[in-house]
Amino acid sequence: MIAGVLTETLPGERRVALTPAMLPALAKAGVSVLVQSGAGASAGYPDEAFAEKGAELVASAADVVARAELLLRVRISPPGTPSGEADLTLTRSGQTVIAFLDPLGEPALASALAARGVTALSMELMPRITRAQSMDALSSMATVAGYKAVLLAASHLPRMFPMLTTAAGTIKPARVFIVGAGVAGLQAISTARRLGAPVEAYDVRPAAKEQVQSVGAKFVELPLEAGDAEDKGGYAKAQDESFYRRQREMMAKVVAGSDVVITTAAIPGMRSPVLVTGEMVKGMAPGSVIVDLAAERGGNCELTKADELVVAHGVTILGPTNLPATVPYHASQMYAKNITTFVTHLVKDGVMTLSMDDEIARETLVTRDGQVVHERVKSLVTA
Ligand code: NAI
Repeated sequence: MIAGVLTETLPGERRVALTPAMLPALAKAGVSVLVQSGAGASAGYPDEAFAEKGAELVASAADVVARAELLLRVRISPPGTPSGEADLTLTRSGQTVIAFLDPLGEPALASALAARGVTALSMELMPRITRAQSMDALSSMATVAGYKAVLLAASHLPRMFPMLTTAAGTIKPARVFIVGAGVAGLQAISTARRLGAPVEAYDVRPAAKEQVQSVGAKFVELPLEAGDAEDKGGYAKAQDESFYRRQREMMAKVVAGSDVVITTAAIPGMRSPVLVTGEMVKGMAPGSVIVDLAAERGGNCELTKADELVVAHGVTILGPTNLPATVPYHASQMYAKNITTFVTHLVKDGVMTLSMDDEIARETLVTRDGQVVHERVKSLVTA
């Protein structure tokens, strides 16, 4: 089987889907790799490193696409966006594509890929089961995002994070509040702790309390009954608006007392709940910083603008939507490991089998034989 790797097309995307270290494992599974020349450069993986590990370097993207039976990408953009139009032409009928396809957010892409006769597998749909943990690219990328969110906050904050006792006086530490203690949130806690800040965190899932404490933060107890907070996939369930209203009321004091608030509360496939209102921002001290990791789906802060820096009531609000691309070397290393484990799960002796008895293949398969086959995506396409 021939796999192809292209230079990513999304503006600002610096990751690459495969790194040279992954090529031996793929070769062992009967997969040889074509790499578009320069595809890894922006992530810190030069052509020579790929060639050394046995990849064939190909000058043009079109030639990679023409020859590759399996295309490995980080992102395929939806139709209607500049990179989306380019991305569709970089696929062909009969080809299998594995990437972040955002099928629940942008189902039009799934339809377009089906219409082109492409078999598409979405990395976002990887089930959160033990067996698939090493293929869970959403978690890997959330790890990177949680880390980088803290660094962003630290560099925009007019204060230092640690407490310092110096000859020039005592520096009070910055107070950090993390909302949503999933993968990104826990990594944000750890990173802020490493910088020396006292950290508080809140999550609707009761199980999060122990995890928050284990990475050195104080769990904020809100007398809220979240009921059944977790779905069977380990993701948070949406709560009703009255729950969010009460949550905002109860969190307002913690938010007001924090120098940095990092929000990560996401519900897969849905708009992010607003947990920090404009009024709550007003209650924060000038110079405070909010980093809203849920910006792509509207944001957890009412004033967030995706990929823009907003200053309101003296508070800086950042809503970066692609932080993993700003740490491209390690983000690519992690993504490449996830996608390679996935490929070697599906491909034996150079032959790919997509068995619907296999939960991993079944849950991630979005299109096949010209049709959108994933039930949840199908319902969005036909809705
Ligand atoms: P996750 O599902 O592991 O964590 C989200 C957490 O938020 C869960 O623990 C959930 O229980 C919690 N949550 C949901 N509703 C809540 C509420 N009302 N109050 C408090 N907590 C609540 O997700 P993960 O992997 O940590 O990702 C977090 C976010 O980061 C997602 O929005 C994801 O899209 C985003 N992300 C952003 C990136 C960026 O560059 N901006 C990159 C990678 C991920």
